[in-house]
Order: sequence, then structure tokens, then C-alpha cells
Amino acid sequence: MKVIISKDYDELSKKAADFFEERFDKIKVLGLATGSTPIGLYKQLIKRVEDGKISFKDKYSVNLDEYIGLPIGHKESYREFMNDNLFNHVDIDIKNTNVPFAKDVDDISACEKYDSIIDGLGGVDVQVLGVGENGHIAFNEPDSELNYNTSIIKLTDSTINANSRFFDSYDDVPKYAISMGVGKIMEAKEIILLANGKKKADAIRSLLEGDKITCNSPVTLLKLHPNVTVFIDEELNNAL
Ligand code: GLP
Repeated sequence: MKVIISKDYDELSKKAADFFEERFDKIKVLGLATGSTPIGLYKQLIKRVEDGKISFKDKYSVNLDEYIGLPIGHKESYREFMNDNLFNHVDIDIKNTNVPFAKDVDDISACEKYDSIIDGLGGVDVQVLGVGENGHIAFNEPDSELNYNTSIIKLTDSTINANSRFFDSYDDVPKYAISMGVGKIMEAKEIILLANGKKKADAIRSLLEGDKITCNSPVTLLKLHPNVTVFIDEELNNAL
């Protein structure tokens, strides 16, 4: 596993964008993430499209997850997040972008459909990941068992609290989500994980220190992947 330490969030975002620029022509399917962490990377990618350095024409994307229960078009839905922070500003064909959507917590067919979309595209070439403070990846929460495939997840209090900053209150945060499973994430040919700030220290410590792999910190599964690059900032590195 490669670890790249940047002096701050801005540099981290630029280095992650450099990583993409270097191999962009070879990428067909991008695995994309939401959360505040990849916003700087997306800004950089938009700039590089504007500068003519990269193009999203003929690219496909699959996103990791989506809340359940938000009306279509809700500003905090991950589909809106992706449209606002990336898709509306680059030359991607919106029909080639995929964000999972489950109409309710029993919508198992939405999970199967999403996995067949990923398989039909031939899998993900490069997957972008953030990490939750509790070590979750996508919405795969710490638990005694994890799902290989896309599934419906009950969010933990830690995640609802962390994400309540985007909503008016804790009560407004959806309690369930549809999420790509850890197996599907691990099938990506290459993975980049972005994390900044000392809040992520426990999660990143579980990944970078020791050789334990545990469902209590799903990010530790990345130790099993042959091609992972971790981008962190100095603040986080100093807290490890
Ligand atoms: C969310 C998302 C994750 C994301 C994580 C961290 O709950 N489901 O994909 O990595 O939380 O978010 P942030 O980048 O805002 O810290």
C-alpha cells in the first residue's frame, strides 16, 4: 500500500487529481465517492477538463452509495451531490453516470440491479474512497458481518451524527442507505483512499498500523487489495 502525505487538503486534492490525470486515458469506469473529502479532487478534475488536460467523454461512473428515503432531487441526496460537484461541470454523458437508488428498505432488486450494472460495465478501473470516522467505507458500517454485494444498510449513530452537519438536525438524516458492498469495492482494479484531518485518525490507524483485518473497521479490508494508494494530510499524519 502506498501512502502519500500532503501538507494540507489543497495539496492532497491536487495530488489525487495528478494521480487521475496520469492514467485518465486508460480509465473507462470511474468509481466515485461522496462526502466532503473528495470535493477538492472533483474541483481539480473540473479545472483540468476546462484546461483541456482530461476529458470525461466515453467515461462511465458508478457511485458507492445513496441515502434511502430522500425525495428525488433533494439537495443532500448523493445523486444531487454528484451532479452539483462534478457531473454538471464536466463533459461526461449523464446517461453514463450511475448512483444507486432504492425506493425503500425492502428494495432488494435495486441492489441486484446495481451489481449487474457494475458487472455489465466490466467492473471499476479506479475507485475513489473516503472513510468514515468509525472506519466505514461507502456505507459499510462496522458490524460482526459485512456484505460482499450491494445491500441495504442501517446507519450507525456515529455516521448519522457525523452526517447531521449537512441536515437541519439529527432527526432529518436518513437512517438507511443503499451501499456497494465491500466485495464489489475490493473488485476495483485500483483504489485511492482520501482522508484529511485528525478526526479520521482512528480509522486510518486501523488501516496503516498493524496487520489486523476486522469488520469493526471495514477500511482494514483494503490491506487485502494489491493496488491501493492512500492520500492523507499532515494534520492526520501527525495524529497517528
Ligand atoms: C459518508 C459516505 C462515505 C464517506 C464518509 C466520509 O457517510 N457514505 O462514502 O467516505 O461518509 O465523509 P466525509 O468525507 O464527509 O468525512
